[in-house]
Amino acid sequence: MRAWAPGRVNLIGDHVDYVGGLVLPLAVDLGTSVDVEPADDTLLRVVSDVEPDPARIELPVADPGRAEPPWARHVAAVAAAVGATRGGRMTISTTLPVGAGLSSSASLGVAVALALGAAGGPLELARLCRRAEQAATGVPCGIMDQLAVVSGVEGAALLIDCRDLTVEAVPLPDGVVVHAVPSGTTRRLAGSAYADRRAACEAAEREIGPLRDADEAAVATLADPVLRRRARHVVGEIARVDAAACALRAGDVAAVGALMDDSHRSLRDDFEVSTPELDALVEHLGSLPGVHGARLTGAGFGGCAVALVDAAVPAGCVGGWRLRPAAGARLVVGEGDR
Ligand code: GLA
Repeated sequence: MRAWAPGRVNLIGDHVDYVGGLVLPLAVDLGTSVDVEPADDTLLRVVSDVEPDPARIELPVADPGRAEPPWARHVAAVAAAVGATRGGRMTISTTLPVGAGLSSSASLGVAVALALGAAGGPLELARLCRRAEQAATGVPCGIMDQLAVVSGVEGAALLIDCRDLTVEAVPLPDGVVVHAVPSGTTRRLAGSAYADRRAACEAAEREIGPLRDADEAAVATLADPVLRRRARHVVGEIARVDAAACALRAGDVAAVGALMDDSHRSLRDDFEVSTPELDALVEHLGSLPGVHGARLTGAGFGGCAVALVDAAVPAGCVGGWRLRPAAGARLVVGEGDR
């Protein structure tokens, strides 16, 4: 079977998915292709076009953490979650930059799951892949990346409510395009303060209740200044996503851009997940004619900035990747098609 899964870029709404907030990502036209040729044994032989060494994974997978080389642990974790037992040859190729904040890893996980015959609908697939990613990396990530990867809609951003897991397509207005521009430093989620940020949100929630329902007045009652800043980001960011989705529907790209700029400042100053390279890049992007707004995208700590850009601006003037909102993950060749 052959499966394709897109990457994603988040237009606005970072570090709010794991508290049931609103996010506005889009699946993109770069992604991962995974081809599986089954064999009559229990060994999965895996090659990837971005890894020098192949991997051999014995099925069923008992402990994904012991797969070698380490890059194969994510594949092994997905194989374990799917319950794969039949061996074969798996070929992975990707057009996504790895570790740049465009969810190369969620894209890989979803494509592997589909190619290994994962059953169930998009939501089940997203949940299974999120569990596998958490198991493989130890990072307590939210559901945004996997859900965006499975739910992509051509030409549209996805307003995801991470509390009830509903997804609404919000078309990108004509005349604007989305760029992801690398900051030069790649992100290492496992080594980052991601878990620490999530724990701070949970600590704030123990004091003032769900941040999804909190307002500025409730946030102001938090005694600890660090928790107060973290919670202020989350509460403000959820409101910004809501406003950005409305502005996008109304075609008010200047308003969306201004909200993106605010989001970056909040991630930089209150949530403290930016880097000097990302700050400089966002400032540079904001100074370019035809750029409506820019911010870091994804977890932060390196990776890409996302910019909303007037389509008349030549791609080379902004740099990075000009990304088209794409359809979600799918099987390209099924069992019966060979
Ligand atoms: C990573 C995680 C997501 C989300 C973002 C930040 O991409 O995998 O679940 O938390 O960071 O918005």
